[in-house]
Amino acid sequence: MLKGKTIVIGVTGSIAAYKIANLCSMLKKLHADIHVIMTKNATNFINPITFETLTGNKCLVDTFDRNFEFNVEHVSLAKRADLFMVAPASANVIGKIRAGICDDMLTTTLFAFNRGAKIIAPAMNTNMYDNPILQDNLEALKKYGYEIVEPAIGYLACGDTGRGKLVSEEILLDKILFHLAYPKDLLGKNILITAGPTREAIDPVRYITNHSTGKMGYALANNAYLRGANVTLVSGPSIEKAYDGINKIDTISALDMFNAVKDNYKNNDYIIMCAAVADYTPKNVSENKIKKTDDDLKIELNRTNDILKFVGENKLDNQKLVGFSMETCDLIENSKKKLEKKNADMICANSISDNKTGFGVDTNKITLIKRNGINELPFGTKVELSNMILDEIKNL
Ligand code: CTP
Repeated sequence: MLKGKTIVIGVTGSIAAYKIANLCSMLKKLHADIHVIMTKNATNFINPITFETLTGNKCLVDTFDRNFEFNVEHVSLAKRADLFMVAPASANVIGKIRAGICDDMLTTTLFAFNRGAKIIAPAMNTNMYDNPILQDNLEALKKYGYEIVEPAIGYLACGDTGRGKLVSEEILLDKILFHLAYPKDLLGKNILITAGPTREAIDPVRYITNHSTGKMGYALANNAYLRGANVTLVSGPSIEKAYDGINKIDTISALDMFNAVKDNYKNNDYIIMCAAVADYTPKNVSENKIKKTDDDLKIELNRTNDILKFVGENKLDNQKLVGFSMETCDLIENSKKKLEKKNADMICANSISDNKTGFGVDTNKITLIKRNGINELPFGTKVELSNMILDEIKNL
């Protein structure tokens, strides 16, 4: 995802500097070219060798490092970089950046950088963070186009509990991916995606559900977001993670999901129904736990609303509707029928032919059924396939 991208990370004097080692490792796995610049104070918390080992690049500390190839390094790095992140950013360095002071490699290189996103992730004691001078500095930096990642609330190294904790490496990675992972070809598009299973309560203890985990729907939502779309994700119970910038609506039952879609589908350009919605729900939900007897138990079920069909019947001409279909036999024929019956513009037909496709795994096999033909996508990860589906919906 980050092949060919050059990222500079400025590390300042904070105990949270250790988190950046993991961030570098995650970025390296995504094939980024990472350059870490440390302040002298940061070297008290973590050794530059750690970053050199993880990134494969020299970790810069001193502006006038004579061991380095002769080049005005702060300028050459600033000219090459696609993104500059300062994390953890101390109150001192934030103050220097705001004031335009360039007295070390980090602040000098950042001052010379104007090619991409400049992200500041503060980390400090709560009282320092709440200090109006610091807040004023952050406001000023926002005006200068810096993105500020607000610190988390939690137990701080100084023993206090409050705001000031550096956000997790995962959140820092998300911020970087948002800027660099893909071209923003879905910018300005509104996309609603349903994902995951639904749960239909039988009593306070039991429910009816299915094997869906939400992996495919979350991959679609996350990639649509990284490609610049405004994403609304209507999710059934799932442990998958959606990016912070996604408008996520949590639902449990098919009725919850129907109501959430009904309330939100209208102002979307694309509606993708990836959720495995229960077709039936218990007619009566017992208020108390049903006690077992020696007899068999019969549960009467009612039909749920078909959400895809509802949107198909009510969508506007400019809205494109995509459904999913999972079959154990006659996949293409049944999916073609679904396209008609539900007035969709495309059906993504899932195969559950082996243990590398379908529920709960990271890979899938999908055939796209459109009004003007069929397109068999190559076997791939759900992340790869979700991008191919998003490419396809742009042409519907
Ligand atoms: N779907 C929905 N609401 C439901 C059931 C399904 O929106 N109550 C959507 C799913 O999100 C998916 C598509 O419909 O996009 C296909 O679901 P499926 O249950 O396979 O469709 P059916 O036509 O109900 O298939 P079958 O006749 O095999 O039950």
